[in-house]
Amino acid sequence: MKIIIINGPNLNLLGKREPDVYGATSFEDYFVSLQQIYPTIDLSYYQSNVEGELITKIQEAGFSYDGIILNAAAYTHTSVGIGDAVKAIITPVIEVHISNTFARESFRHQSFISPNAKGIVIGFGLKSYELALQSFL
Ligand code: DQA
Repeated sequence: MKIIIINGPNLNLLGKREPDVYGATSFEDYFVSLQQIYPTIDLSYYQSNVEGELITKIQEAGFSYDGIILNAAAYTHTSVGIGDAVKAIITPVIEVHISNTFARESFRHQSFISPNAKGIVIGFGLKSYELALQSFL
């Protein structure tokens, strides 16, 4: 099974960025632990701070991978282009958020991803990614 985790802007700073909200672990460290727990899954990881690069990666993976786990971060709430990319592909997308976006500012309650996501995992910290991964198994 071929799964990719795609992370959007500022998630390269996990571990350093607002640790009270996002935790103290870097995504690189968390990703290694996921690979160790699920050695039979062909799991890859991509991060970009650039909207168009995220769209290109969604398109690249979107016709050959078995699943995409997408945390589009702030672009979740603003990007029609990423929402359209999720709609355009055939690979199922699980939308993930580390924090509970519905317990935060109202602008985080809107998502351009959700209408075309297969499912949504929100608010379980980094564990949200593992829960999304399990949904593909
Ligand atoms: C986030 C929530 C977004 O509102 C925020 O802009 C992020 C991270 C999360 O994983 O909790 O950067 O997607």
